[in-house]
Amino acid sequence: MAHQAEVSMKVNGAESKSVIEPRMLLVHYLREELNLTGTHIGCDTSQCGACTVLLDGDPVKSCTVLAVQANGKSITTVEGLASKEGLHPIQMSFWEKHGLQCGFCTPGVMIAAIGLLNENPDPSEEEIRLALEGVICRCTGYQFIVDAVKHAAQTLREAGETKVAMADSMKA
Ligand code: FES
Ligand code: FES
Repeated sequence: MAHQAEVSMKVNGAESKSVIEPRMLLVHYLREELNLTGTHIGCDTSQCGACTVLLDGDPVKSCTVLAVQANGKSITTVEGLASKEGLHPIQMSFWEKHGLQCGFCTPGVMIAAIGLLNENPDPSEEEIRLALEGVICRCTGYQFIVDAVKHAAQTLREAGETKVAMADSMKA
């Protein structure tokens, strides 16, 4: 039997623990072990960004991280954004500003946007485009995505949020 490793991490506020092959990528752990299929796989070259999740608050491409490297850490996926009160302000902004078409890239785009807004609550268009350059969208032409992120930033500033609250932290 292949060597196995035990991993435990907090995913969207819930503790998860599994025994896996040490070579398992974080994206496969999330999708196959935890059934969190909102984190997408759009390439096998680490270029598309559809797999982007927050790892201890920082956006990472989860196809470039081994699940064992996330041991003991905290992960947020797109499933962690909405709460029982409704959609997250980022999701609402993408809805209102038509920041998606097919939606395949959208989970990664929104997570990357959260990473940006946590660092910079009032980004310029250029800063938004720079922060999102690692996530590729084949449909939208990006302008509506930029508009959605600007709108989300404004909504969060008006709400007085200096960090983008996650559904799991709002539950706590
Ligand atoms: S699946 Fe394309 S960058 Fe991760
Ligand atoms: S909305 Fe289709 S890939 Fe971005």
